[in-house]
Amino acid sequence: MAKSQPTQRTPFEHFHDGLLHVHRELQHGVADILTVASHENSNQAVANRMIAAFCEELENHHRSEDVFFFPAFRAAGRLRSTDIAFLDARDDEHLVLVRLVGELKELTGRRSGTWAATARRLLTEVAEVADPHFAAEESVLTAEHVAEMITQRQLANVYRDMGQNWDRR
Ligand SMILES: [Fe+2]
Ligand SMILES: [Fe+2]
Repeated sequence: MAKSQPTQRTPFEHFHDGLLHVHRELQHGVADILTVASHENSNQAVANRMIAAFCEELENHHRSEDVFFFPAFRAAGRLRSTDIAFLDARDDEHLVLVRLVGELKELTGRRSGTWAATARRLLTEVAEVADPHFAAEESVLTAEHVAEMITQRQLANVYRDMGQNWDRR
């Protein structure tokens, strides 16, 4: 019997897998920090490190979308009007998340008697915006749909560009 070859993932499948993976990691990050910040006597140093790691991962994910993927989808010139509106709406949600990340970072830099309550409020707000945002991206930016927006070669070029120019844009 012929040995089955491992199936090669297309760049489109790779893109969607990556989206699911990072979104789940970020959601678990929020849940873990909420657990640590459940009361005012919680270990702030530990929670602050978790918050810093979460903010960095979210900022990197936004960077991949704002600076590399979404501009490439637009530049490919194959978007329907619904796709254009979809990406514009996600951009707006990124801005809300950027503001919340800024507030979270500010929180990690100061001592406050209401630290845990503030952390919980901000993270709850993050989840309220991020959960539907992630769900929208996952349901619309499927491998099949991304294949209508951009060619395989163009998407492969985006990955190469990210690898070479991550900090330059
Ligand atoms: Fe996004
Ligand atoms: Fe995303």
